[in-house]
Amino acid sequence: MSDPSSNEVVSAVATASPLDTSSTSTQASVVLKFGGTSVASAKTWRTIASLVRKYQAKGETPILVCSALAGVTDLLQRIVNNEEPDQALSEIQQKHWTLAHAFGVDVEAAMGVPWQALQDLSTTRRDDDAAWQAQVMACGELMSTRLGASILRTQGIAACWRDAREALLCMTTDKAGKRHYLNAEIQPEHNAQLVQKWREQARFEQDGDGSQNNDSAAQCWITQGFIARDDNDGTVLLGRGGSDTSAAYLGVVLGARRVEIWTDVPGMFSANPKVVSSARQLRHLSYREAQEIAATGAKVLHPRCIAPLREAGIPLHIDSTLQPELQGSVISDEARDFGAQVKAICCQRGITLISMETLGMWQQVGFLAEAFQRFQRFGLSIDLISTSESNVTVTLDTHAQMVDISVLESLKAELETICRVKIITDCASVSLVGRGIRTILHRLGPALELFEERKIHLLSQAANDLNLSVVVENDYADSLVRQLHHLLIPRDARIPEESVFGPLWQHLVQPETMPQATRKAIWWREQRQALLQRADEHAAAYVYHLPTVRQRVQSLQRLDSVSRLLYAMKANSHPEVLRCIRAQGVGFDCVSWAEIQYLRELFPDLSPQEVLFTPNFAPREEYAEALAWGCTVTLDNLAILQQWPDLWRDQRAFLRVDPGQGHGHHQKVKTAGVHSKFGVPLGELDEVAELCAELNLTIHGLHVHIGSGLTLADNWRRNAELLIQLTQQFPAVENLDLGGGLGVPTKAGDSELDLRELDAGLREIQAQAPKALNLWLEPGRYLVSEAGVLLVHVTQTKGKGQVRYVGVTAGMNALIRPTLYGAYHDIVNLSRLDDKRQELVNIVGPICETGDILGLDRMLSPCQEGDVLLVANGGAYGAVMASRYNLRPLVAEVVLDPARQDALDNLGNVA
Ligand code: LLP
Repeated sequence: MSDPSSNEVVSAVATASPLDTSSTSTQASVVLKFGGTSVASAKTWRTIASLVRKYQAKGETPILVCSALAGVTDLLQRIVNNEEPDQALSEIQQKHWTLAHAFGVDVEAAMGVPWQALQDLSTTRRDDDAAWQAQVMACGELMSTRLGASILRTQGIAACWRDAREALLCMTTDKAGKRHYLNAEIQPEHNAQLVQKWREQARFEQDGDGSQNNDSAAQCWITQGFIARDDNDGTVLLGRGGSDTSAAYLGVVLGARRVEIWTDVPGMFSANPKVVSSARQLRHLSYREAQEIAATGAKVLHPRCIAPLREAGIPLHIDSTLQPELQGSVISDEARDFGAQVKAICCQRGITLISMETLGMWQQVGFLAEAFQRFQRFGLSIDLISTSESNVTVTLDTHAQMVDISVLESLKAELETICRVKIITDCASVSLVGRGIRTILHRLGPALELFEERKIHLLSQAANDLNLSVVVENDYADSLVRQLHHLLIPRDARIPEESVFGPLWQHLVQPETMPQATRKAIWWREQRQALLQRADEHAAAYVYHLPTVRQRVQSLQRLDSVSRLLYAMKANSHPEVLRCIRAQGVGFDCVSWAEIQYLRELFPDLSPQEVLFTPNFAPREEYAEALAWGCTVTLDNLAILQQWPDLWRDQRAFLRVDPGQGHGHHQKVKTAGVHSKFGVPLGELDEVAELCAELNLTIHGLHVHIGSGLTLADNWRRNAELLIQLTQQFPAVENLDLGGGLGVPTKAGDSELDLRELDAGLREIQAQAPKALNLWLEPGRYLVSEAGVLLVHVTQTKGKGQVRYVGVTAGMNALIRPTLYGAYHDIVNLSRLDDKRQELVNIVGPICETGDILGLDRMLSPCQEGDVLLVANGGAYGAVMASRYNLRPLVAEVVLDPARQDALDNLGNVA
């Protein structure tokens, strides 16, 4: 130790606690863990190299903890299971050789030792020997890190390979058990001597060029995830998710300043982004919350890795190797307390539920003990539990075990000696996670309504007050997650630096990294030039693309089960849109006498048979006019029969019923249930039937419309089922009007209404009906929403702290849906459609209200005055709900119909 500076280093490290890095800033180390996909490609290794350089430049030692190359652990498992082991070996070789070639690495020199070891192990099989299995499985990480060290050297980084087994020691006493070798646990402690040793070794190790690696600040160590050693120097594994756990353990042992998990998503999210594309990044979480989110289903992090970091006070970061420039999630005790809040909706599939029922347990001592002993006997760990006087229902902990069906059968047989047992294997648990769940139960009201429709097997509120979980059928889980997310996770919060919620998943992930399927062709991309031309002529304008309207009409006309379509003209009453829809043979659903008059003026040949009048709390005159004209009128209130019996005597009408439960994209558009003013409640139908008989009023159609923006086909099926039952009470009924409400996707990843499923469901119900019944639909949004866009011009931009604003020529005066319902409308800069979307902005209008917002937290390409922004899904409930607030003029409405324009142009030529 002749170098005095190295003495300083040694003594400083030896006394440093993991928390105290200030005095040893030149030696501070950061653990960076890379999972299988992050170490499998040349591109990600280049990212790793640039991260290493970044930390080295700050004088920190990056400690890389790597998994096996993607797919390799599964291949090793095949060798262990003796499933075509030679084939598996050659695939493993292929993966490493391909990666090595990408960097011109001499693969034999780089990873000859572990590769040879693996070949030897596979020829000296010791089936059922857990020690041998652990050695085989460990080869994945040993190879990836040997190769990784060589790759980094090609990038000019003198990476030192370190054996993680030197740092991680497991002290299990039961060495005979499989668990010891395959699922070992460690009590990590800071080991200053080891840090010192590794540092010194590094100084004398040669890098690939033969030059000495003696700059202490620029060291880089690369080591393995997943593996550790026991006190016999045997190799043991850390079980599923072991690399995350290794990173945490190594962070503690090596006294890291922080641990970073580098994966393929930029952090933890408020839901699985594959299910909810509007999932929001969670920027700051406490250890307890992160642990709970990981434990209740988030795959990004293994729950076991959090406790050691929490105890040592080491912050954990989660970032993306695919987008390293993005800010990810930070888990620490510094996470500011934003009060009780649901932060994530998590889902675990493949849950096994066991219900134990007996009256014998009531006030009996020891029933649970007896039951749980049986679980223990089979090594089964219980996760959720709920009890009543006669029933105990539990779920099995999926993290702790893979449950074999034969084990379940044996358990059932044993439990049946003390109670009746039902086992359901196809369940999912859906959990609301966040601090202080108990104190916000009252806010969950609307969310709990969702549970009314489906069977909940179990509801459990965690004793730590961090989660509320329900167990439901697997099939229902995704839609429940989406709906709960929609109701409980804020979508409109701004994103100040310290906010819990970061941007939406779909804004973080650039379109080019989105799955192909979500990038469907959109008419306005093809019509960009025509749209920019129209935009030039107006400050702001709605543009409607009639071919899209026709296409949507045709897709509903293809439903075999539906015999009549009535367009709910409230969605968009532009004359050309109405003409286009009528030309396809579609009738109209009107809600005011004014709408009917408007149609009669537009179409002088309109017959009353084309119109259904469905008013709500309309004055008597409107009913009288409609009845006199002869269109079909829908009754939706008992009072109008009682108050105006003369109006109804000897008439024919439809009756709108309220099935008791509404749905919709927003509370304000749910049109059934006690909190909605529409329809006759089921409890009043007897009275209506009596009054109809008295008045000789024939009910020839039943009507139901439970809300707007629905995407579950089952809604219409269930309503049809209900109406069919009600025909017994109203035997003259020939028509069932199932309303509108057909939702449309507004952003990538939104669920779409499956028309085939809708049709199949309705046909099935129709076939079960005691008599032939015509089914009608009243779509509004479905026919016009996607066919329309709002074009606005950028007026100015502004920055306020972290928040950037892009001002445009029209806001809530033109499109009130974002303000009124928090509705999402995609927004793009049409003038710069192909530029990278890189600025997170709020798009706001010129109206004097803070709520005058078209889009919050949107990724846009940089905007300049005069740019044309396009607001998508503007065809429904856009112009019709516009106002002249602030005395701004109504926005223009323009129609695009390229086919007809061509035809007209051709006619012109002939003339
Ligand atoms: N039928 C009845 C009886 C209705 O009340 C409605 C819409 C429809 C059909 C058409 O529903 P659609 O297919 O468009 O979902 N302004 C709100 C929508 C209000 C819908 C009111 N009733 C929005 O912008 O989302």
